[in-house]
Amino acid sequence: MCGIIAYLGPKDAPSVVLDGLKKLEYRGYDSWGIGCLSKGKILLVKKVGKVGQAKTSDLGLGAAGMAVGHTRWATHGGISEKNAHPHLDCSGKLALVHNGIVENYQELRKRLQAQNHKFVSESDTEVIVHLVENYLNLGLRKAVERAASELKGRSAFVVLDSSGEIAAARTGSPLIVGCGEGEFFIASDIPAFLSHTRKVMYLDDGQMVMIGKAGPQFFDLASGKEAKKRVVEIDWNVEAAEKGDYEHFLIKEIMEQKDTLWQAISQDEAKIAKVAGQIKDAYGTFLVGCGTAGKVCMAGEYFFAKIARKHVNFAVASEFPSYESFLQPRTLMIAVSQSGETADVLEAIAAARKKKARVISLLNVFGSTMMRVSDEVFMVNAGVEKAVVSTKATTAQLSVLLLLAYASAGRLAEGKRLLLDTASAVNDMLNPRYEEHIKRLAERLHQSEHIYIIGRGLNYPIALEAAIKIQETSYIHAEGFAGGELKHGPIALISRGTPCIVMAANDDSFHEIISNAMEVKARGGHIIGISPQNNEVFDYWIKVPDAGNASPIVNIIPVQILAYHLAVIKGLDPDMPRNLAKSVTVK
Ligand code: M6R
Repeated sequence: MCGIIAYLGPKDAPSVVLDGLKKLEYRGYDSWGIGCLSKGKILLVKKVGKVGQAKTSDLGLGAAGMAVGHTRWATHGGISEKNAHPHLDCSGKLALVHNGIVENYQELRKRLQAQNHKFVSESDTEVIVHLVENYLNLGLRKAVERAASELKGRSAFVVLDSSGEIAAARTGSPLIVGCGEGEFFIASDIPAFLSHTRKVMYLDDGQMVMIGKAGPQFFDLASGKEAKKRVVEIDWNVEAAEKGDYEHFLIKEIMEQKDTLWQAISQDEAKIAKVAGQIKDAYGTFLVGCGTAGKVCMAGEYFFAKIARKHVNFAVASEFPSYESFLQPRTLMIAVSQSGETADVLEAIAAARKKKARVISLLNVFGSTMMRVSDEVFMVNAGVEKAVVSTKATTAQLSVLLLLAYASAGRLAEGKRLLLDTASAVNDMLNPRYEEHIKRLAERLHQSEHIYIIGRGLNYPIALEAAIKIQETSYIHAEGFAGGELKHGPIALISRGTPCIVMAANDDSFHEIISNAMEVKARGGHIIGISPQNNEVFDYWIKVPDAGNASPIVNIIPVQILAYHLAVIKGLDPDMPRNLAKSVTVK
């Protein structure tokens, strides 16, 4: 969703901010803008579309030592220059960018209009800059404090004041301060300034920061008291967040699964065993996540059922309100999220905390909001994932859940052995010949209108996840089903040549899924088998290692590669699919 980067320091601020926006492109957005302070005046540039190859010389902003930039993913108001950020107050002395949603913006807007504030956009954000303006006679810090106290919903905003200061407040969406040599940054995520500094300070929820030439000062929004902060040194390297020799982040990240599975498995075994004990003792465990992470949670439910004979409940985070009445202090919630910022998951966690339930999170982004609101955190160690389409974080999350399931069965060593063997098999599998084989399949399928995917048992959630991958990259209608469900309706969709991907793991569901594939083939379906062994029903066979209970991990990888090549063949951007965002910070 929206991205923020602000800069104050000796370098050319518009250039630093423009570069930062390019680093934030992966978040997904539809328009962008930069505001800077040049010779005492605030100047703006706003554009619809992508930052792409834009150069500072194209911006026409001139030299400046202070600037703020934003990538907008439209929520309130269409995709237009006027709705893009930054937004100005009536006097043109304040420029403001914002992530999140102002849920009460209609009433605030009416009130401010009645006080003669002039609105020029349809965006909910514009009310914030007029609110700050309203209280500016109290000084910038107090004005931000007052404005933030009136906003409902999750937000983070940064305001640039023509007096030479930057203020930022966090009420739900992340903001991080970067501290270089005599220069300071504020951003929604670290890659925006990683090429300048690795020293960061995290704003907590309900805090604000004032940055002038002397550096940052943090305050608690509610009490106004100064808050002390620690400088944290981030160990990410710049290369990890770049494409290197690959054409796209997506294929780079798919290939990185050769290493990331090993990293995911390297967990503190004592901690795994402790959490497994908590799962056994809990009065109900909920696995919650959204989108792909939601499918990982569903796979987790199957892992626990099959391996530990333990019933844990999977719930889509946005649907969790329907389960809230089951929460109590002995409930356990396991939240799965690569970004650690997904609004629906944060809401489910808030509900759990309210009932004093214990919260454990599986995360990939260090320092994310979920890290701060969880009792225990497992980092899945997949490294920076920039493509909107999640791949290496997914298999890393599956690995950690599988470890937990084995630990709950009292068989942690066996689970670890299985995962180490799987990581080694994936390492062998991901070679250029394998990719080429799947690319040929993409060449056959790229004009398909529909692609169906079926799986059973552990691979039913993976059939659903496979559909998400194909939808996101290729915009082809893809849908996953439990193999046994086909004859209860969906088989009516099959006609001559309809592609159907069959996840046929070498487990107790093998013969039944092959029968389901036969049923599809009998109606003209074109069968693509993902399986350790070939079968006469397959028209196209993609071999995967026989990974036993880890089959979901190996089976999703060929579909990730297929999804990538479908996008490339169709001339689509595999890294930034239309309408999507990397972290979904609104409900
Ligand atoms: O950051 P999260 O893991 O919480 O994100 C959840 C979903 O938004 C995410 O998995 C989404 O479905 C991906 N784009 C899938 O590739």
